Amino acid sequence: MENEVGRSLNNAEKIDSVKLAEIEKGKPPISVDLAYASEPWWYDARGFLILTFAYRSTLPAQLRLFSQNISDNHLEVAIGSGTLLNLCLLWRRIHNQTWKHIVGFDYSSQMLSGAVKRFKKDSRIQLFKEDAANLPWADCSFDSANVANSLHSFPELEKSLGEIYRVLKPGATLAGNCLLNPGKVWVLDRISTWINHWGMRKGILHRPYERQEVKEKLVGAGFLIQKEVVRGNCYDFIVRKVKP
Ligand SMILES: C[S@@+](CC[C@H](N)C(=O)[O-])C[C@H]1O[C@@H](n2cnc3c(N)ncnc32)[C@H](O)[C@@H]1O
Repeated sequence: MENEVGRSLNNAEKIDSVKLAEIEKGKPPISVDLAYASEPWWYDARGFLILTFAYRSTLPAQLRLFSQNISDNHLEVAIGSGTLLNLCLLWRRIHNQTWKHIVGFDYSSQMLSGAVKRFKKDSRIQLFKEDAANLPWADCSFDSANVANSLHSFPELEKSLGEIYRVLKPGATLAGNCLLNPGKVWVLDRISTWINHWGMRKGILHRPYERQEVKEKLVGAGFLIQKEVVRGNCYDFIVRKVKP
């Protein structure tokens, strides 16, 4: 039986590399394109430095958080170049955990082009160019969602959380993390602050948050907090949608 997800996906625009190029043809670059103008490989190298010095988190911690929250009907929010998702899927393969269907989206064509290349041979992964603040899918479409390293980049955080909540089914979980204002740790907080200011100037960081602020925004969107932990300058969480 084709479910709501199947129907809404057919109505949305599936992206492959040809479609992506067509959508972008002749359009003047907008601020998103300029902010994410780097090549996907450079994004990955830079991302590792940002993870270590601004988030003060580690890749294994991220893999543990996100690879556990991939259902058979999963939404990967702001997938970027797909590097982290790819590692999560490798992690699941190593731990004999299967998955069936993943929908991923991002609003930057440059970032999405990396994911399109990476997953072009896997028909279980569908990619879309979408804004988290305005999703095309029907209410209650997905059983799980991950939003990795992205909440602090969203220009419209409340609206985006509201949209993620809407497209999740009751009982579905959302795993995510959010960059916090650096805590006072010797010279490390100055390095984090410097990287954050650079990120905000470049347009890839909206702003870092306080832990309580993020929690209130998640609860305000309707989510129930299931797990939360602060690691370095990162607030990691798993939340659940309880009501329809
Ligand atoms: C730091 S990257 C994280 C990418 C990936 N999740 C990862 O962990 O490697 C942040 C991503 O958020 C995307 N992004 C920011 N605001 C967005 C929005 N409103 N809608 C969709 N994607 C957005 C950017 O284009 C970028 O790819």
